[in-house]
Amino acid sequence: MSVLNVTLKDNEYKIYIGKDSILNLRDYLKGKSRYFIIADHNAFINHGKQFLKDMNNPPEDMIFVSGEKDKTLQKAETILSRMVQAKMTRSDYVVSLGGGVCGDIAGFCSSVYMRGIKYFQIPTTLLSQVDSSVGGKCGVNLKEGKNLIGTFHQPSGVFIDRSLLDTLPEREMKCGKAEVIKTALIKDSSLVEKIDSGHDITSIEFIESCIDIKRKVVENDQFDYGERMLLNFGHTLGHAIEAISGYGKLSHGEAISIGMAVITKLSEKYHYSESGTYDHLIRILKMHGLPYEYKEDMNKLFNYISNDKKNMNNKMNIVFLKKPGQAYIHSTSLVNLYNMLGSL
Ligand code: GLY
Repeated sequence: MSVLNVTLKDNEYKIYIGKDSILNLRDYLKGKSRYFIIADHNAFINHGKQFLKDMNNPPEDMIFVSGEKDKTLQKAETILSRMVQAKMTRSDYVVSLGGGVCGDIAGFCSSVYMRGIKYFQIPTTLLSQVDSSVGGKCGVNLKEGKNLIGTFHQPSGVFIDRSLLDTLPEREMKCGKAEVIKTALIKDSSLVEKIDSGHDITSIEFIESCIDIKRKVVENDQFDYGERMLLNFGHTLGHAIEAISGYGKLSHGEAISIGMAVITKLSEKYHYSESGTYDHLIRILKMHGLPYEYKEDMNKLFNYISNDKKNMNNKMNIVFLKKPGQAYIHSTSLVNLYNMLGSL
C-alpha cells in the first residue's frame, strides 16, 4: 500500500492507496467512534458490507444519494437534519462512500454541520479516485448551474482501493478516463506518452500518478486562485455542455471530453496551442471511446458560461494546453470568448 501526505498550511491528511486500504479506516473507527455514513446507493450495495464487516459499532445512521440529481440544497438539508437526529457532535465523523457527487455533498454537509465536522472519503469511482476525493472542494448544484454553492473542507483521510472499481459500469469508467486524460494533458507529458502507447489508464499506477499530481496542485494552491485552476481544463465548457444537454444525458466525463476538445480546437485556431495539439487530443479521446463533437448552438453555451463562478468582472480564466502535457491559464474578456466561440 502507498501512502501520500497532503500537507497544507493549517492541515495535513493521508491518502491510502492499495487493496483493502478501506480496512485502515474501519480499524480507525472500530470500537471507539461514532460515525454517520453518506453513501451512493450502488456503492453501498457493492461495498458497504465489506466496510461494516466486524464493526462492533454500527453507524449512527446512514443516508443514500444517487447521482447528480441529488446534489441539491434540499438533499443537503435532509442529510443535515438526519445528522442532528443522530446526535452527531463535532467529535464524531462522517464517512462518504461513493463517487464525486457523494463526496461533494458529504463534504459540504460536513463543512457546515455545527461549523465543521471531520469526514473521510472512500471514493468508489475512477473519477473520484483520480480527482475529486482529494482537495476538499465540496458543494451542491443550483438550477442555475453546477457547484454554485460550496465550501472548501478537506477530508481527514482518503482511502483508495482500485478493486472497488470492478463493479462499475463501463460508462462510469469512461467518465473517470476523461479525468485521467485531463490530468496527463495539463501536467505530465510522460503520462501522455504512456496513454499514446496504449497503457491501461485505469490501472492503479495511473490512479496513483493522477492523485499525486492533484495532491501537489492542491498543496500549492488550496483555494483555487492559481495553479489549481489548471484542473478545470475542459470544465468551463464541459459543465455548460452538461447542463445544456440536460443533466444525466451526457455523463460528466463525456461533457468534459467534449469541453476539452472544443476549447483546444479554439486555442489552436488562435495560436494559443502548438499546432497538432488538437489532433493529438482527438486521437487520445477516440482511443478511449470518448466524444469530442459539440453540435448545439454556441450562443447557448456562451450564455451558460457567463454565469459560471469563474466569471469575474466579465473576465474569465480559461485553461489552454500549450501542448499535450503542459497547460496554462489565459485570462480573457467575455466578449473575446464570445467572438472566439462564435468563430468555430
Ligand atoms: N476537480 C478540480 C479541483 O478539485 O480543483
